[in-house]
Amino acid sequence: MPNKKDTRHILPRRTFLAGTAATFAVMRPSLVRGSQANSTVDLGLIGCGGRGRWITKLFQQSGKYRWVACADYFQDRVDTVGDQVGIEASRRYATLSGYKKLLDSKLDAVVIETPPYFHPEQASAAVDAGKHVFLAKPIAVDAPGCLTIADAGKRATQKKLVFLVDFQTRANPLYREALRRVRNGDIGRLVMGEAHYPWSGGGRGAPPTDPEQRLRQWYYVLELSGDFIAEQSIHSLDVATWIVDEDPIRAVGSGGRTVRPEGSIWDHFAVTYSFPNDFVLSFTCIQSIPGVPDEISARTFGSEGVIDTDYFGKVWIRGKKPYDGGSTGNLYTDGAVTNINEFHQAIVAGQYANETVAPSVRSNLTAVLGRNAGYAGGELTWDDMIRRAEKLELNLTGMRS
Ligand SMILES: NC(=O)c1ccc[n+]([C@@H]2O[C@H](COP(=O)([O-])OP(=O)(O)OC[C@H]3O[C@@H](n4cnc5c(N)ncnc54)[C@H](O)[C@@H]3O)[C@@H](O)[C@H]2O)c1
Repeated sequence: MPNKKDTRHILPRRTFLAGTAATFAVMRPSLVRGSQANSTVDLGLIGCGGRGRWITKLFQQSGKYRWVACADYFQDRVDTVGDQVGIEASRRYATLSGYKKLLDSKLDAVVIETPPYFHPEQASAAVDAGKHVFLAKPIAVDAPGCLTIADAGKRATQKKLVFLVDFQTRANPLYREALRRVRNGDIGRLVMGEAHYPWSGGGRGAPPTDPEQRLRQWYYVLELSGDFIAEQSIHSLDVATWIVDEDPIRAVGSGGRTVRPEGSIWDHFAVTYSFPNDFVLSFTCIQSIPGVPDEISARTFGSEGVIDTDYFGKVWIRGKKPYDGGSTGNLYTDGAVTNINEFHQAIVAGQYANETVAPSVRSNLTAVLGRNAGYAGGELTWDDMIRRAEKLELNLTGMRS
């Protein structure tokens, strides 16, 4: 279990060396090729679906990376990405174990864009193989998976590897400045928060029964996605827990399946979280209601002001010490671009603090706590969740190993 001291490093404090001679002096030998110092990072992609295909272009556009390998369960998906970024046929790996062959091959870092169920196994193996890790949210679907990532992040630091979790909000200058001001005491003592995730997407329908098809439509399969609250709403819970900067003590949850009764994941949750010092967080999420304006919000009231944030809107503080902040703009792309650049900078500068890991573990555990409390239709404490260590197990029968 991560103790609270381990998870307190919430505010990103990534200060990077400029690209100077000093930078190259601490560069990993694998990044120095031939007679000339070369900071191009050789990358492998694990998970060649929607996000994987999309993000390969951003890594390319940065000019700091070269795609050399890719892996996906499906051959058609590795070939699409392989053709898109020019990966030779011998370095395209399919089936469940394809990622292991990728990790055995010569490259510096991996970008993991598979369904969340596989993140702990694949990220942990990547650290074992000595690769830097760029990991999509959510980090895991259950508490044991979260703790595996916490451990992998620590091992990465010990092995002088960079491990970055790609939350766009944490990369945004407005969120960073607003959070700096909250830490500075600008809204006073934290009293109460609310976080919401209404989402018009998500579709409807029963999860597929064919094992391979389940991998293609993993979002609808509880074991693969961790349910809506962990897979999607993690974005707002991550900001909410970033602000409060504590682990919740307990959650009281409810919810159900009303607009998508045939599914294996829920379409709405309402959770009240209790934190130390009587801080209370009221959280709701709802999916698949066409026409609902999407929102990824987290608002926290303090004794002297309120911080208000929305992924699709504005970040600002009102009260005794206001901060006008501003509009987040195209956070979806800009946040990923910042993370891609900071991942590279951390690699070449030898910065292995890996400060995105602990907050991602905390917010993911918070989502699992709310989900499990909801399923139980009542209260669940953080300590009980950790002690029970309930694992979601996917039946792999019928899939190619
Ligand atoms: N804003 C964001 O940060 C954001 C946005 C979208 C997706 N994501 C995350 O990115 C990840 C991928 O989502 P997506 O939308 O690209 O899904 P997707 O289904 O489009 O792609 C996932 C790919 O992984 C492959 N796959 C499944 N199991 C595998 C395994 N064991 N080994 C190798 N490949 C495997 C699938 O075949 C598929 O091609 C998820 O964690 C998701 O939450 C994050």
